[in-house]
Amino acid sequence: MTAPRVLVTRRWPADAEAAMAAAFDVTFNEGDVAMSPQALAEALRSFDAVAPTVSDRLTADLFEGATAKIVSNYGVGYTNIDTEAAKKAGITVTNTPGVLTDCTADLAMALMLSAARRLGEGERELRAGKWTGWRPTHMIGVKPTGATLGVIGFGRIGQAVARRAHHGFAMKVIYFDAYPIPAEAAAAVGAEQRASVEDVLREADFVTLHTTGGAENRHLINAERLAIMKPGAVLVNTARGECVDEAALAQALKDGPIAAAGLDVFEEEPKVNPALMAMENAVLAPHLGSATHSTRVAMGMTALENLKAFFDGREPPNRVA
Ligand code: DGY
Repeated sequence: MTAPRVLVTRRWPADAEAAMAAAFDVTFNEGDVAMSPQALAEALRSFDAVAPTVSDRLTADLFEGATAKIVSNYGVGYTNIDTEAAKKAGITVTNTPGVLTDCTADLAMALMLSAARRLGEGERELRAGKWTGWRPTHMIGVKPTGATLGVIGFGRIGQAVARRAHHGFAMKVIYFDAYPIPAEAAAAVGAEQRASVEDVLREADFVTLHTTGGAENRHLINAERLAIMKPGAVLVNTARGECVDEAALAQALKDGPIAAAGLDVFEEEPKVNPALMAMENAVLAPHLGSATHSTRVAMGMTALENLKAFFDGREPPNRVA
């Protein structure tokens, strides 16, 4: 039997590419630049499987006339794919959960600490040769240790951040999730539930977002919600850019009440709202949540496992549609 033909839309770490090439007739996007919608549509018509990433938007129109059998997303979030349209076209969709939980939680902590302690601003001052020496009032930040962390979206990654914050930084952790969370899971990371996003925002010194993206959570954090956050609070987003109204956030970073923000994701990646770029109190990272070697290899291996199971006639372990 001939091996199924798979298109991988970006380059992967070498180990994952080698494993993929050993299992399938695979084509990698050698140039490693984002493919156009037309090229993606063509791939869905000419390959048995496509393995896209968060930066490939597989919108409903691309599924018209598609003959691929499976889309194996290299990533846990899959709001880049219109799963309803995929289903209608009879195409299975899978993702890569679990393997990037720790790395993404680590980066959320890094952004939280950097934003709170003004690391970006401090480094820019130092590199510009503008540092005049130690003084008691220089670059005063916010203290995370012992403060209250609000987690919005309390799935795997939200809980991993809570664990770090509670056990490592003695933080009180509160959370909101639209779906029920087992009491033991919350207790294991010392977290208390709150009834609404607003309740979390009013009480937390630090707020970290771990919801899905998409229409459901578009502008989950908007001007009204920013306005009820505590004076001096810090907002962190490693989830999806659309969860935060960036224009409203830039305004809040300028006028308060919040002190700072740490962002790994943006509404129109790779473009970043110029109003945010202008804010010294925003720490901005280029979507690095899962960016460690072992994690990016593990994501490839998980995407591969999903493909192997599917083409062997087994249920793919991470089917989302
Ligand atoms: C994901 O997997 O959803 C990330 O955003 C990319 O690692």
